[in-house]
Amino acid sequence: MLIRATFTLSLLTLTVSRSFDSGSSTINCVKCHATDPEKINVHLIHHSHDDVGWLKTVDQYYWGLNQSIARVGVQYIMTSVANALENYPDRRFIQVETAFFWMWWQNQEEVMRQKFKKLVENGQIEIVNGAWSMNDEACVNYQSIIDQFTWGFGILNDTLGECGQPTIAWQIDPFGHTREHGSMMTKMAFDALFFGHDHVIFGSAFGSDNTYHTPGGLCWDYLCSDDAIDDDPSSPGYNVNVKITSFVNDVKNYAKYYKTNHVIITMGGDFYYQAAELNFRNSDKLIKAFQNNTEVNLLYSTPSCYLNAVYQSQPVLETKTDDFLPYSNADDTFWVGYFTSRPNFKYFERVSHNILQVGKQLYSLARASGVSNLNVDLLNGLRQANGVVQHHDAITGTEKQHVNDDYVKMIHRGIIEVESQFSIIFNNLLNQSLPQLTSCLEANNSICHTSQTYDEFLVLVYNPLATPVDHIIRLPVQNASYSVEGPNGNIQSDVLEPISNFTFIKREEGPIVGGQDLVFVADEVPPLGIKLFLVKKGSENITRSKTFDIRSFGNEDLGFDLDENTNLLKSVTMNGQTLEISQNFYYYASHDGSGGRVASGAYIFQPNGEASVFGNASIVRSYRGNVVEEVQQKINDWITQIIRIYKSSSHNYIEFDWLVGPVDVSDKIGKEIITRFQVNNFQNNATFWTDSNGREMIQRILNFRPTFTYDPTKEPIASNYYPVTSKISIIDPERNLQVSVLNDRSQGGSSLNEGQLELMIHRRMLHDDSKGVGEALNEQQFGQGIVTRGRHWLVIGSRNETNKNATVSAQERFLAQQKLLQPWVGLETTGNLSNSKINELILTNYSALTSKLTTILNLITLEPWKNSTYILRLEHSLELNEDPNLAVPIALDIHELFQDFYVENVQEMTLGANKRLETVKGYNWEYLGHMTKKNTYSDDTFIEMKPMDIRTFIVELNRK
Ligand SMILES: *[C@@H]1O[C@H](CO)[C@@H](O)[C@H](O)[C@H]1NC(C)=O
Ligand SMILES: *[C@@H]1O[C@H](CO)[C@@H](O)[C@H](O)[C@H]1NC(C)=O
Ligand SMILES: *[C@@H]1O[C@H](CO)[C@@H](O)[C@H](O)[C@H]1NC(C)=O
Ligand SMILES: *[C@@H]1O[C@H](CO)[C@@H](O)[C@H](O)[C@H]1NC(C)=O
Ligand SMILES: [Zn+2]
Repeated sequence: MLIRATFTLSLLTLTVSRSFDSGSSTINCVKCHATDPEKINVHLIHHSHDDVGWLKTVDQYYWGLNQSIARVGVQYIMTSVANALENYPDRRFIQVETAFFWMWWQNQEEVMRQKFKKLVENGQIEIVNGAWSMNDEACVNYQSIIDQFTWGFGILNDTLGECGQPTIAWQIDPFGHTREHGSMMTKMAFDALFFGHDHVIFGSAFGSDNTYHTPGGLCWDYLCSDDAIDDDPSSPGYNVNVKITSFVNDVKNYAKYYKTNHVIITMGGDFYYQAAELNFRNSDKLIKAFQNNTEVNLLYSTPSCYLNAVYQSQPVLETKTDDFLPYSNADDTFWVGYFTSRPNFKYFERVSHNILQVGKQLYSLARASGVSNLNVDLLNGLRQANGVVQHHDAITGTEKQHVNDDYVKMIHRGIIEVESQFSIIFNNLLNQSLPQLTSCLEANNSICHTSQTYDEFLVLVYNPLATPVDHIIRLPVQNASYSVEGPNGNIQSDVLEPISNFTFIKREEGPIVGGQDLVFVADEVPPLGIKLFLVKKGSENITRSKTFDIRSFGNEDLGFDLDENTNLLKSVTMNGQTLEISQNFYYYASHDGSGGRVASGAYIFQPNGEASVFGNASIVRSYRGNVVEEVQQKINDWITQIIRIYKSSSHNYIEFDWLVGPVDVSDKIGKEIITRFQVNNFQNNATFWTDSNGREMIQRILNFRPTFTYDPTKEPIASNYYPVTSKISIIDPERNLQVSVLNDRSQGGSSLNEGQLELMIHRRMLHDDSKGVGEALNEQQFGQGIVTRGRHWLVIGSRNETNKNATVSAQERFLAQQKLLQPWVGLETTGNLSNSKINELILTNYSALTSKLTTILNLITLEPWKNSTYILRLEHSLELNEDPNLAVPIALDIHELFQDFYVENVQEMTLGANKRLETVKGYNWEYLGHMTKKNTYSDDTFIEMKPMDIRTFIVELNRK
């Protein structure tokens, strides 16, 4: 634990005091029991770990349904704890998951709410973490972390007031920990982050078996079966001495790992405390039994009391600057499969994140404009669904299938609700009337009712970035020619065969019509702005796009070649460089768990040997169009891929659009599919880089960990897998070349050989990996294994040159940004519109901003908040050394940011928008840096953004 605790503390900047200024009065919400400097102080932390979905759905866990899976009803936990604490002021408990707290709160009568609130105010219940869920760290994007903490904090403030604001971050169950998550917690002004599950090398941490569970012999919970403490000497079952002896041994053992005489012991487990009196009554007795102990002082505590006690002892702490990935609980058992598990769900999470951000912006603009019939609460469903799916058994893909189905339903319902007001909002912003505006969530699956049914329709594009974008629109259409008209007349388009007819062959109802994709570029869509395009069906019937026997695509600025014999990628040209790069699909045979190894499953990636290649490609068709040049490769009956480039100069990358599945397991062997890029003559010296939650890149060295040694021969492949949330890169330092692959969802990836990059894109296994979920990860659809489709974007370039006004790293940042926050596209039939109205509409050039921000400034949040305020969050998207010209501080005046409103009454907040930055005080750990206070200019709307800064403001938007 100490190793962990020291890292934990040192990673973060700590604040000095637990009391804080609430304006007029100072509230102190924490009451700690006395500790004894002469003894080992054992801080007992009573907690319940309540997964927001895993074996049961959130709803089933909350209410206590589906009890044969687990006898759990979270609703009883909070009630039972409140009752157990009420008349016992010494007892303590921590409450963690705000999603469950909110369900509980809504279902309580006022008496119970007040009882709970009082316990929070008098320090008996401490709210820790406070996020909607305890998010996974490997697969989540930083923006989703920020969102789900912000929403949790807001609900806690609304219900419990200021004492409900957590000061401790608590990540005891996620399977590995990222640097970026730690950094986010610092920016949220948490005093410390406590976490569980790290590499086995660190030994025991929380409790004896590296978990957050109650130590052996002391598990008195309703879900446990240890004997209670019998401290009546006249009782035949009197056992208090026995209990104490074994506990003292445990404590002395733990104490060796700690740097101070304070030891933390967690008293809890998954869904404990449904009958809290069982736990507290026995803890009372245990504490009492230690009353006169000369060595050990036992006390009810909370993480902030523990932290405070450690702080008083002033231990010397160490700093760790890498992360805790990948996690393994044995030399040959690496928890890296979940980086890729359930690839479609991981993609859907990105889509829903995108729509939520668009929704928050649009509702903000509409509310600030005074749209009368707007219901901003329609954002809440998706806010909460997205918070839930960040959970460490949700986005990870480690939940049971029926729970995953429920998550999908939850997100989908949220999206429908958010989008339900878009027509009202667009009509208001544009002063128009577009009554039927609909999005096409299934366009990537060749389904879009409007574009496939109507001969003429409008395409509305809303850009959520603060900088203009050229957005590729791709819509399934009828088997015909099409024209596309923008504000400056007709624009180029292509009608292409889609990647495969697989989905509509298998789908029961069959294709709606046709089977062609219309592709065009919605160019220069303004920042936070809208453009419209008119699409008209032509008279000409299209036969399938022609096949050319071409193997060379693009030109000297951007292009790629295929090999004549293998039909695989051979070389790539971009940013003034040409590199020989091949790419192909391979599979790892999943280990079946025989011979004492753990099987490959939802959590664990356990390959049975090296990857096998599927073979060469055949060319289905190739195409040189007006907008794209592309080739469709077929690898086998269930793997196809389009490699393409766009002719628009703002799309400076090679796109790989792959379709994989149903993975063939007819040989009874599970398979995990990877795409692998091989760059010839490239020396990256066993070093590669992966992003941390979509932000800073972290160096990875093959078979090596910066802070400890391990034996890579036990599992040479999986032990080198890392999460890739947005990008993986290799660099040849001799030639200063960089090759990167960006992705559209989180995946596992590695570089196992020189010049190589691989990403795992699909997994289908036939065995469970014995980590609790109890199901093999073998997703089904249409009665077969699930098919997944996704994209990779390959970028190459020299690191010391600037192309297109940016270094290759900066280009990759903008690309990642554009893929994370894509424009929202809505369709509207023209049936009821006059020609003059249509002409007027396609001249629309709306932007909510007065001017575009520079591409490196990201407006990551514009969100309607309490009492007619808004959250405004800006980010400088570059790291310090990513671009000599662009990675520099930028000053701007946010007062004038918006076209129609002044930004006024600006309050700078911590990252979670719950504390005014100026009120944050830091624990004074001498050897650590303090949270840097931002410059306060006399004009509070004039701000400066430094590389990697994120700054959060609560503002008013007042109409000009
Ligand atoms: C501890 O010592 C006090 C004073 O001698 C005594 O009253 C109390 O019963 C003792 N407690 C235990 C658990 O032995
Ligand atoms: C669908 O694709 C398969 C394989 O590429 C092809 O044989 C078949 O003709 C296609 N069907 C349709 C309806 O286009
Ligand atoms: C296009 O195809 C439709 C349906 O197959 C047919 O009715 C129509 O006559 C065709 N038009 C032309 C111009 O060939
Ligand atoms: C918390 O709630 C109080 C009372 O409603 C409000 O005054 C305060 O601004 C809220 N704090 C935040 C950060 O929203
Ligand atoms: Zn958990």
